[in-house]
Amino acid sequence: MAAALTGAPGRVPAAQMAESPGIERSDVYSLFPTLVWRIELERAVYEPINARVLPFLRELRGKRVPTAGESWQSSVALHEREELSQLVSSVETTTRHILRFLHIGCDAFQITGCWATVNAPGASHRMHSHPNNFLSGVYYAQVQAGADTVNLHDPRPQTAVLRPPVKQLSAQNTDQVVVTVTPGSLLLFPSWLPHSVDANRSRTERISISFNVMFRAFGETLAKPLWGEP
Ligand SMILES: [Fe+2]
Repeated sequence: MAAALTGAPGRVPAAQMAESPGIERSDVYSLFPTLVWRIELERAVYEPINARVLPFLRELRGKRVPTAGESWQSSVALHEREELSQLVSSVETTTRHILRFLHIGCDAFQITGCWATVNAPGASHRMHSHPNNFLSGVYYAQVQAGADTVNLHDPRPQTAVLRPPVKQLSAQNTDQVVVTVTPGSLLLFPSWLPHSVDANRSRTERISISFNVMFRAFGETLAKPLWGEP
């Protein structure tokens, strides 16, 4: 069962229970939430990005054009290419905002991988996550009706043990949320969050650019025991 992501999915109507007789006050805590950021870049930002990235990818692919049901994936260091510098800048700015939002006391990060995916009509991408990074994300360069969604899956496997029927799907009771994206959308999420892409049901290619972000000093300092030296 999949719920479309609309409105404010994290908001719980706590007042519903408070209206019951005998209850003075009630609170509902949304604990350990899974945060997903969807940013829609301004047209004045994403059109110049696409104007450089799309021709670059065409050149990179050469004659390797995926046929129906197939995908093409680039090498994984596109963030080092000048053609992606504007996109990298948007990713870095967004990451800085997220780290500030999360009150993380470590602002030195790096993009550790960045690759393009071209899904021909009929092509999908099975559920997966991105190990050994803190944030992952996708920039959507070319998406259209029939190829404009991404599925985010419940990262808590134990919730599959009991799945009672629900009267109305919401982000609180589903195991899969479908996020709709548009050209210029930028999606960021925890790297451990499983996600997948349904088959491209449009007649044209779906082109996206994925990336991973990790703390620059993870190995040197952050991964050391938290309790430090006695
Ligand atoms: Fe992915």
